[in-house]
Amino acid sequence: MIRFNVPYLSGREEEYLTRVLASGSFGGNGPFTRLSQRWLEERFGAPHVLLTTSCTAALELAAMALGVGPGDEVIVPSFTFVATASAFHRAGATIIFADVDPYTMTVDVADVARKLTPRTRAVVPVHYAGAPCAIARLRELCSAHGAALVEDAAQGLDCATGGEWLGRFGRFAAFSFHETKNLHCGLGGALFVNDPSDFERTEDIWERGTNRTKMFRGLVDKYSWVEPGSSFYPTELQAAFLLAQLESMDDNRLARMARWERYRERLSGGEREGWFALQRLDPADRSNGHAVYVMLRSAEACEALRLDLLAREVQAHIHYLPLHSSKMGRALGYEPSDVPLTEEYAPRLLRMPLHNELTLDQVEHVCDLVDDAFRAGRVR
Ligand SMILES: Cc1ncc(COP(=O)(O)O)c(C=O)c1O
Repeated sequence: MIRFNVPYLSGREEEYLTRVLASGSFGGNGPFTRLSQRWLEERFGAPHVLLTTSCTAALELAAMALGVGPGDEVIVPSFTFVATASAFHRAGATIIFADVDPYTMTVDVADVARKLTPRTRAVVPVHYAGAPCAIARLRELCSAHGAALVEDAAQGLDCATGGEWLGRFGRFAAFSFHETKNLHCGLGGALFVNDPSDFERTEDIWERGTNRTKMFRGLVDKYSWVEPGSSFYPTELQAAFLLAQLESMDDNRLARMARWERYRERLSGGEREGWFALQRLDPADRSNGHAVYVMLRSAEACEALRLDLLAREVQAHIHYLPLHSSKMGRALGYEPSDVPLTEEYAPRLLRMPLHNELTLDQVEHVCDLVDDAFRAGRVR
């Protein structure tokens, strides 16, 4: 079976985990947490980075730091993972779902513009599959409108557009280090705090609502409860595992990009045949090769291709089910027709297996099987 994902290992995880075991200190916000945070700050020029237990937690931390609450509206794409919406919903905000640009499956800026109101507190776009959304235009729109821009960059680490790193456009940006991502620590995340004036409060919220980190820095004698907060950071074991992965970011990306480029080159033949479309990308953008998908002509063709590949021992997966027409989206008062392009395109998208253990021959094999499924008429 050609597996959809195999979690990456850099080879240095064990050494760093052994160091944590030898140190006898495991609880979090320790040396490996600080090293990982500094590594990310230096690489991406972020003023402050806080490690979190997940990207979901990073988005929740951003919602708390922004003080989002009842009466606020937060615009998110419907085509995304649950957390983009749930982090702001649980803070009490009204979730406004925006539609997708079907060529990129990132949020449609014109639809965001239409949905901005005086109550809009934040806009949370997603960089899908390692491709930037129209983030510079969203930044302009948010700043003209006084709304906070929070990037859901769960899949966007080490990507750039217009010469700027993803994660550096928003007031906050959330990343995922879940094992399905290019780099991971099992389950983990990070929040980029791009406005230095947000940092002090955000760090206190992150530290369970206390100023404990300031005590470590010698700024206060004793720590106490200073903010509403929660327990947001991972253990030192995860931070050490993550550092071993971060340090191999360049090698990891090279290997992944080789597979991703081979897929896109090979699958462009099927695109020319009119069987499906590939994600439309700006060649000037920097991708991290996170995912490759084909957009089929119908949901039925998508399911037929998925099953055809599975029967030939290849795991291909669909992705997000639209949030607005989910059980929770319906409970929030949405109808499927409210976000029509997402409803139409989400069930037509099929992701190909992609991970660094996949060989280029296996990529060729998967593409041969895709071609064969269409040529033999098993998928139309
Ligand atoms: C766009 C997006 N946001 C948030 C998340 C949540 O990430 P995590 O699993 O680290 O909480 C995911 C997970 O895949 C995602 O795809």
